[in-house]
Amino acid sequence: MIYKANEQRYSSMSYNKCGNSGLWLPAVSLGLWHNFGGTDCYENGLEIVKYAFDHGITHFDLANNYGPPAGSAEENFGRMLKKEFAPYRDEIIITSKAGHLMWDGPYGDGGSRKYIMASIDQTLKRLQTDYVDIFYSHRYDPNTPLDETLQALCDIVRQGKALYIGLSKYPIDKLLYAFNFLKNAGTPCLVYQDKYNMLARNVEEHHLHAVETHGTGFVAFSPLAQGMLTDKYLHGIPKGSRAERPEGFLKAEQITDKVITTVTRLQEIAQKRGQSTGQLALAWVLHHTAVTSVIIGARDVEQLKENMETLNHLSFTDDEIKKIEEILQA
Ligand SMILES: NC(=O)c1ccc[n+]([C@@H]2O[C@H](COP(=O)([O-])OP(=O)(O)OC[C@H]3O[C@@H](n4cnc5c(N)ncnc54)[C@H](OP(=O)(O)O)[C@@H]3O)[C@@H](O)[C@H]2O)c1
Repeated sequence: MIYKANEQRYSSMSYNKCGNSGLWLPAVSLGLWHNFGGTDCYENGLEIVKYAFDHGITHFDLANNYGPPAGSAEENFGRMLKKEFAPYRDEIIITSKAGHLMWDGPYGDGGSRKYIMASIDQTLKRLQTDYVDIFYSHRYDPNTPLDETLQALCDIVRQGKALYIGLSKYPIDKLLYAFNFLKNAGTPCLVYQDKYNMLARNVEEHHLHAVETHGTGFVAFSPLAQGMLTDKYLHGIPKGSRAERPEGFLKAEQITDKVITTVTRLQEIAQKRGQSTGQLALAWVLHHTAVTSVIIGARDVEQLKENMETLNHLSFTDDEIKKIEEILQA
């Protein structure tokens, strides 16, 4: 049966301007790092993406190396795009990235022009599309002159293969340099992407201020700390959870007694607000004025649904913020 999107899809999502640009992004975006690869169930992934789009998520975050195997998340999303979402392409923001190890040899990793240019072409082939909306440098590469990486990104936009440029995981001095370079080149950095959650707050020191000053959007990845900020690990490691799986992106050792104590205390605040702990964690990230969107991951529609319901209660009282801060500083 041909997919027809929910006509009410824009009624419950909130959209935030991405920095000073003209682009709006949904407060909640969907990331395809996990659960959408060649070893995952395609139909489950499709169900998640359909639910997301049917409820106002217009922004889907990918990278060349997402899978496993690397590239397969783009292939799967490309198949969905072609088979199900083709009539809606102009309602969708697709992002991809290059910067981490993707293929063997000296040209399959980092930030060289050779790697970036080959990557975008491979990405477009896998996604079966002529352009992505945002193309990111996935990380700062200390072994490539930054100008080389940035010029390659500008050229990709000039070639029409991406509409906007994004940067991810850059040290603050390199980020500030890049903002100026890209602005002078006439292709300003649309968005900066980094990890930000209640347990990982490094970006609060400089990056969040820098993006606000430069009119760049900020999207937060791993806003649930890969699941640690939900209740799921409070009584051990459930079967099938990310911390239990062999890939090792979330290690059991990361779920320390301190994390459990913190999340247990956050749970009390969440319950008083009538929210789940995960919803509290997402609302807290969105509370920062620099944050345009949280990119969440979801293993099934139930998780996605719960996470999207965060939008029903985003605001905090000063007292709640103070209590949360005390818990996070303890
Ligand atoms: N730029 C970068 O370098 C970079 C790096 C990392 C991620 N990202 C992007 O950010 C996206 C999100 O990252 P992430 O997956 O780490 O985000 P996250 O939202 O912090 O974690 C998602 C995981 O938490 C668990 N979870 C989610 N909702 C839940 C719920 N309601 N109840 C219980 N458990 C729940 C699920 O894991 P279980 O399998 O345990 O259920 C889910 O896969 C990625 O897909 C990617 O697009 C970018």
